[in-house]
Amino acid sequence: MVRAEEKRGRIGESVSGLPTRHELLLYRRVIKLVNEDFHVDDLARLPEFYRHLVGLAVEITESSGGSLFFSEMNRGGIISIAAYEKEDIAVPGRRFRAGEGVAGEAFQSGRVEVHSPDKPHPKFVTLSSGKYGALMAAPIAVPGQKPEGILCVYRRDPEPYTVVEISLLETLGKIIVSILRLVRLSHDLADSNRHLLDSLECSGALYSLSLKVGDRRSVSEILQEVVVSFSRLFGIERVAVLLKRGDHLVVEIAEGLPERLGAGKVVPLEAAGEKAESRIRTTESKILRAINTCLTERRPIFSEHTGDTLTPSRRIGDFVVFPLFSGRTLLGCVVVAHGPAASIQFDEKEIDSMKEFVSGIGLSIEQARALEINERAYRAAIRAIADSLETRDQDSKGHSARLVRYANHIAERLGFSPKDRRTLEFACLLHDVGKLVIQDQILLKPKKLTDSEMEIMKKHAEIGATMLERIEFLRDAAPIVRHHHERWDGNGYPAGLAGEEIPLGARILAVVDAFDAMNQTRPYSQGRKVEEALEELRRCAGSHFDPRVVEAFLDYPFEDLPNSSSDSSSLF
Ligand SMILES: [Fe+2]
Ligand SMILES: [Fe+2]
Repeated sequence: MVRAEEKRGRIGESVSGLPTRHELLLYRRVIKLVNEDFHVDDLARLPEFYRHLVGLAVEITESSGGSLFFSEMNRGGIISIAAYEKEDIAVPGRRFRAGEGVAGEAFQSGRVEVHSPDKPHPKFVTLSSGKYGALMAAPIAVPGQKPEGILCVYRRDPEPYTVVEISLLETLGKIIVSILRLVRLSHDLADSNRHLLDSLECSGALYSLSLKVGDRRSVSEILQEVVVSFSRLFGIERVAVLLKRGDHLVVEIAEGLPERLGAGKVVPLEAAGEKAESRIRTTESKILRAINTCLTERRPIFSEHTGDTLTPSRRIGDFVVFPLFSGRTLLGCVVVAHGPAASIQFDEKEIDSMKEFVSGIGLSIEQARALEINERAYRAAIRAIADSLETRDQDSKGHSARLVRYANHIAERLGFSPKDRRTLEFACLLHDVGKLVIQDQILLKPKKLTDSEMEIMKKHAEIGATMLERIEFLRDAAPIVRHHHERWDGNGYPAGLAGEEIPLGARILAVVDAFDAMNQTRPYSQGRKVEEALEELRRCAGSHFDPRVVEAFLDYPFEDLPNSSSDSSSLF
């Protein structure tokens, strides 16, 4: 340990003469503490973190012990929330009123207050005589503002604190205040977003459940399969599936059936008995009538042979309309028909097999529908979060949505599965979600960030990933978010990964994020033209970016895209 005298001799005694590198070293120590030992959103570890801060204060001032006090809004004083050594002054829970004792005085004056045997502080209270040789208290405050707390250290021996030590404690107080704001933001975020996160988590659980129930197939995939299966199993090429949507019945898929039963058509539902007297002339109207009867009576309806009045391509023969159930819920119906050859008719055995087949379709359709509704809901929730981020950071309006389009193009080129594309989409929308805990004065600062501000800003990737890890259906997107600022050559952050160590999704995100940042106009810089931005990507392929990813992006159809627009992105 360096003796105080040596330190004094080496560093000098005037505050103005304090080398900046000492302050910088201190900043680094705190940033390291925040980065490596503590996660800003890990609230359970806050007490430990506070104790570490006191430990740091004790160490840099060569003290015996210390304590961290927070202001108590309702009492107007301070309370100790962490102590390095459990002396009575440092016992957590110990309170001082403003102006009471050295710590209370520092809280009131907003200045560092020092006590030593040669220069006793007027407010020094000797609680246990002989225990404290020297003592000092520094405000945790933004200069010029009311302190948010007090950092207090003491020595047992009567060695007075040097000017350098006093200054170091003062500096630490200033650093801690910005850390506390970050922590508080994290708390606020947790509160304000709890509802949103809860709903995300809930829909995520439903989504995962649906995944476990069966293959993840969309309604349209299932319907395609129904058509193919009728052809393969029964040799029937004329099939339509109609599903109820509110009061309507919509033709979801149709093959080889008359015009009015084409895909997308809405079939009117008539009350039973309506038009019973009208003379039915066409197969088309006969089928429509059979559909209505099937839905009303909830049983299969068979046709007699029809077809004379239809054009040759639309001619059909015998048909059956099956009701489509999921449990006892009527979802719609399935229409199947033979070709026009009069000799082909449905036999009883065939009808039984079809009935059985149709009865298995309903449940899959309902599951897939629920999944799609659910997916729409959580996509909307994710977009809401992305939008709230963009609203806060006006510069980045529309940024995330553009990244989704660009990244999708690359993912398609690189042969991503639908699941991986979805994960990448979520990562694009939420890549900067960690910025929600970055304080406005850093996030919205129009000027260049200082080194320490930059270090805090860089935390957004880790913070964002940690947030996503907590939500099951977003968990896969977390590594992409965590590493979206890594560089191909290993000079990025937070982990300094290089080459293929970086998740492919993160490499894609890095390219499209940089492209959009270059292409969009910011308040302080005009966006580059598409060609110029692409040229820059090409130039940095192999250093900053994965060359394969850049290559896959170059043929993006930019024709519809303006060269630059008024909205823009942030670089983070
Ligand atoms: Fe970012
Ligand atoms: Fe971004």
